[in-house]
Amino acid sequence: MLYITIAATATLLPLTTAATYPTSPKRGLCYVPSDKTPNDDTIWTTTPGSNLTWYYNYKSSPSPAFTNTTHLQFVPMFWGTSDSDQGTPFLDSVKAQIAAGAPIRYVMGFNEPDGTHATGGSNVPADLAAAAWKKQMEPLRELGVMLGAPAVTGGAEGFAWLENWLRACDGGCHPDFLPVHWYGSFEGFASHLGQVVEAFPHLPVWVTEWGFAGQGLVGSQGFFNESVALLDRWGNITHYAYFGAFRSDVSNVGPNAAMLTEHGKLTDIGSWYLGGAATNNGGSVGWIWFVGWWYW
Ligand SMILES: *[C@@H]1O[C@H](CO)[C@@H](O)[C@H](O)[C@H]1NC(C)=O
Ligand SMILES: *[C@@H]1O[C@H](CO)[C@@H](O)[C@H](O)[C@H]1NC(C)=O
Ligand SMILES: *[C@@H]1O[C@H](CO)[C@@H](O)[C@H](O)[C@H]1NC(C)=O
Ligand SMILES: *[C@@H]1O[C@H](CO)[C@@H](O)[C@H](O)[C@H]1NC(C)=O
Repeated sequence: MLYITIAATATLLPLTTAATYPTSPKRGLCYVPSDKTPNDDTIWTTTPGSNLTWYYNYKSSPSPAFTNTTHLQFVPMFWGTSDSDQGTPFLDSVKAQIAAGAPIRYVMGFNEPDGTHATGGSNVPADLAAAAWKKQMEPLRELGVMLGAPAVTGGAEGFAWLENWLRACDGGCHPDFLPVHWYGSFEGFASHLGQVVEAFPHLPVWVTEWGFAGQGLVGSQGFFNESVALLDRWGNITHYAYFGAFRSDVSNVGPNAAMLTEHGKLTDIGSWYLGGAATNNGGSVGWIWFVGWWYW
C-alpha cells in the first residue's frame, strides 16, 4: 500500500508542477521515418496538446502514417533531379493529389542541391535545377500553390548556388518563400538568418532543418531554447522544423539533439517541441538517468 502511494505521488508530481513549453503555429515536423521502429510515428500526432501544424518527408506524396491527420498540413518536396529524368513525375503527383481533394498550399524545391549525396544533398547543378523548376514547379502556381526555393546548405557555397540558380532561371523562376538549413552555434544561426533576410527581404523564410550537432545535454537544450524563441518572435520566419524527429541512438547530429530516446520516449527537447513539459527521459546526467530508468 505504501509502495503504491509513493509511486502515484512520483508520477503525479511532474504532471502538476512542470511548466509546459510555448507553442507556435510556425512549428512543423521534419519527418524522418525508421523502418526499424515504425510505431514511433504516432507520437508526433497523438501526444496530448501536440500542436505541430505541418510536415514534410522529402517526398512528393504524403506518408501513410499521417494520411488521416488532417490538422498536419503536408508539404510535398521535389527532392532532386538528374539529366536522365523523364517526364514530370513531381508535377503529376502534386496535381493528382490536388485533384483528389488534398489541401496542398505549399511545395518545396530541391533539398541541399549544393551538397553531395553523402551528406544527404541532392547535388543538382544550378542550370539543371532551373530547367527542372520551370517544368515541374512553376505550373503549380496556376493552381494557387506557393513555391519554396531550393533549400541550400548553410555554408557560403549555398548562397553562391542560389545566385547561380536565379541567374540560370533568367526571370523564369518565382519562389514564394525561402527554405533554409543551418547546423552550428546559436550565434551563427542568428547571423545566417539575418543575412538571408537581408539578401531576400521580399521572401518569407522557412527553416526546414536546423540544429547544433554533437553538443552535451545542457548545450543542446540551451541551443534549442534560444533558437526556438528567436524563430517564434521573428516575423520574417513563418515556418520551422527542428532536426530531429528520431531516436538518439540513430541520430546523425549527436544523441542530445534527438527528440526521442533510444527507447522511443520523448526527450525533454521532443516534449518541448510538442508544447509539453520536460520528461527527464534519456538525459546523460546520473540522477536523471536513474529517474528515467525508474519510470520504465
Ligand atoms: C494549438 O493550435 C491551435 C490552432 O492553431 C490553437 O487554436 C490552439 O490554441 C493551440 N494550442 C496550444 C496549446 O497552443
Ligand atoms: C486511415 O483511415 C482509413 C479509413 O478509416 C483506415 O483504413 C487506415 O488504416 C487509416 N490509416 C492510418 C495510418 O491510421
Ligand atoms: C521582413 O521584416 C522586415 C522588417 O520587419 C519587413 O520590412 C519585411 O517586409 C519582412 N519581409 C517579409 C517577407 O515578411
Ligand atoms: C530550456 O527551457 C526549459 C523550459 O523553459 C527550461 O526548463 C530549461 O532549463 C531550459 N534549458 C536551458 C539550458 O536553457
